[in-house]
Amino acid sequence: MRVILFLAGLLASGPLFAQSAAHERMKTLQADPASLQAAIAAGKKASFFCANCHGEGGVAKTSDVPNLAGQHPAYLLEQIRKFGAGERKDQFMQGLIKVLNDEERAQIALYYASVTVPPSKADSSQIAHGKMMFDKLCARCHGPNARGNELYPRLAGQQQPYLKKSITHYRDGTGVRNNQLMAIATSPLKNEDIVALSHYLTQLP
Ligand code: HEC
Ligand code: HEC
Repeated sequence: MRVILFLAGLLASGPLFAQSAAHERMKTLQADPASLQAAIAAGKKASFFCANCHGEGGVAKTSDVPNLAGQHPAYLLEQIRKFGAGERKDQFMQGLIKVLNDEERAQIALYYASVTVPPSKADSSQIAHGKMMFDKLCARCHGPNARGNELYPRLAGQQQPYLKKSITHYRDGTGVRNNQLMAIATSPLKNEDIVALSHYLTQLP
């Protein structure tokens, strides 16, 4: 039993983003400035269809669709992998992602990561409580300004309804989004905390 718990702990705390073939390809492209520029240009073309929902340059057209602009490419690739493997649920994304090969996945992730995401408007009465909760429960992974890093997604400037929906999915353990670290981090949150957090995060630059 102890061994099983230990192994489960290792899995949960091990490499957060599986080193997929697309991930390896992305690192190769990043290593050379000319290849990176070419990949970003190719990613812009390859993502023309994604713009229908995620917007031009990855700034979403409707607020329950996430912005992809400014997001860390390793996180984007990991979510693409999760949709493809059925570990993250969204009927449309699960089907769509299967048509992308590893090269296109790496190019699209690098393209979106290269675009700046603008902050959105928020309900200012929510911000103080949201900041207090964020600093206490979230900043140690997502960073003091919610800008994330190679291991954790950027949250700053993300769409407010999407943030609210996603945080609730992790907390409620519905199986739509699965991540043990996030399940633990969100377990103490009340609905009003989630609202406050989402307003605080959406207006961060
Ligand atoms: C019909 C609308 C639609 C289209 C077209 C679309 N997406 Fe999505 N995408 C969504 C929605 C909705 C979500 C959020 C699902 C959820 O609530 O978890 C999403 C989520 C994502 C995420 C996860 C982002 C995050 O912050 O976790 C990635 C990555 C993504 N899409 C990539 C793409 C790519 C690449 C394309 C083009 C090949 C694409 N999407 C096309 C609707 C769309
Ligand atoms: C121990 C580290 C850790 C802590 C603490 C943490 N997170 Fe996360 N968070 C993650 C990881 C890892 C992911 C990616 C999970 C996945 O693949 O679904 C994530 C994903 C997210 C996402 C999804 C982003 C997107 O684009 O869809 C949101 C929203 C989020 N976290 C909000 C929070 C909030 C709010 C808190 C504080 C209450 C918090 N996180 C605390 C590690 C953490």
